[in-house]
Amino acid sequence: MDRQKIVVFEGDGIGPEIMAAGLDVLAAVTQGTDFTYETEFLPFGGQAIDQVGEPLPNNTINQAKRADAILLSAIGGPRWNACPKRPEDGLLALRSELGLFANVRPTVVADSQIDQSPLKGEIVRGTDFVIVRELTSGAYFGEPRSKTFDQAIDTMYYSRSEIERVMVYGFDLAQSRRQHVTIVDKSNVLATSKLWREVGQAVAQRYPEVTVDYRYVDATAMAIVADPTQFDVLIIPNLFGDILSDEAAQITGTIGQIPSLSAGATGPKMYEPIHGSAPDIAGQGIANPISMIKTVSLMLSQSFHQDKLAKQIDEAVELTIRRGQVTPDMGGTLTTKEVTEQVMNAMQEGVFS
Ligand code: NAD
Ligand code: IPM
Ligand code: MN
Repeated sequence: MDRQKIVVFEGDGIGPEIMAAGLDVLAAVTQGTDFTYETEFLPFGGQAIDQVGEPLPNNTINQAKRADAILLSAIGGPRWNACPKRPEDGLLALRSELGLFANVRPTVVADSQIDQSPLKGEIVRGTDFVIVRELTSGAYFGEPRSKTFDQAIDTMYYSRSEIERVMVYGFDLAQSRRQHVTIVDKSNVLATSKLWREVGQAVAQRYPEVTVDYRYVDATAMAIVADPTQFDVLIIPNLFGDILSDEAAQITGTIGQIPSLSAGATGPKMYEPIHGSAPDIAGQGIANPISMIKTVSLMLSQSFHQDKLAKQIDEAVELTIRRGQVTPDMGGTLTTKEVTEQVMNAMQEGVFS
């Protein structure tokens, strides 16, 4: 296999701390294998504003388009909140420029982690679902948008084709899982949601083997904490998906362990934890690196078909968690670096095939 080019955005806040962990694990797991790669670190987000006054410099987007995969930790922070273009604006522009319309956010509660959940064991046991969040349209991108002292406008927009492609992505994914889709919307009120549901119904016809539920977003928020095991694949508009994915993350015990992948029709996929730059704990060395380590694993399996290497990482993470060698958000006392070392030690124990 040719040498793969991985573009790396170190990010802001805890970003560089967890990215170092992810890259250490990547180097360790690939050492001595025929998977070879080079990393290219590019300025992005708050870091890029500091360096060149712009969160998504031209060179960054141009290089990202030529990558085989993109790794991002997290961007943003109070320091840049008043900037004319914030780090978050750069992230939205990046997703849009790369055409990354489908964002997959898994929620899995392993038996060994049931006690970490804020939910009762009998409710959360067996939870294993993914949110497919539409990522490049909806309320985040609709025009017009404006703000004056007295009023502000956002526009929630969806076209039929934007909805159809993310529905197809979600139904395809369901076919490789438990063949159940939940289409989430607010079609009792919003026009975009009426179209969301209509297109969902039309796409569902093409997948007779997939069972489908239609749910309002408010009731879904409730069901995620009341009965999470009913879900397999949820297909959700951009803004609602952002909110429900943080809620879903928390039922695993911590958002600090959730990776994601973002995909378009063509071009490189991007991999990022779903959480932010955690300014409240940045610089303390206690950020949970597991989100980033699992993000690296997801990249290995989904962009590079290195399923065996991904499995080695996942099993080492699982073992590390079972041993309680974890950061404070998981109830442990270890630092980011110590957890990362434990994961690498577990990989070296060689108990994995
Ligand atoms: P956040 O996700 O950064 O933090 C929420 C809570 O989760 C905090 O208490 C934080 O300490 C904790 N947390 C998050 N990741 C953790 C980890 N790996 N280990 C341990 N604890 C962790 O959300 P926020 O505070 O609302 O946002 C902070 C900044 O991040 C904002 O600027 C926001 O816009 C940005 N953000 C960026 C992304 C991204 O880059 N994809 C995603 C979400 C938020
Ligand atoms: C996420 C974040 C972003 C979003 C922000 C930082 C723009 O919350 O990735 O979930 O809302 O998509
Ligand atoms: Mn979010």
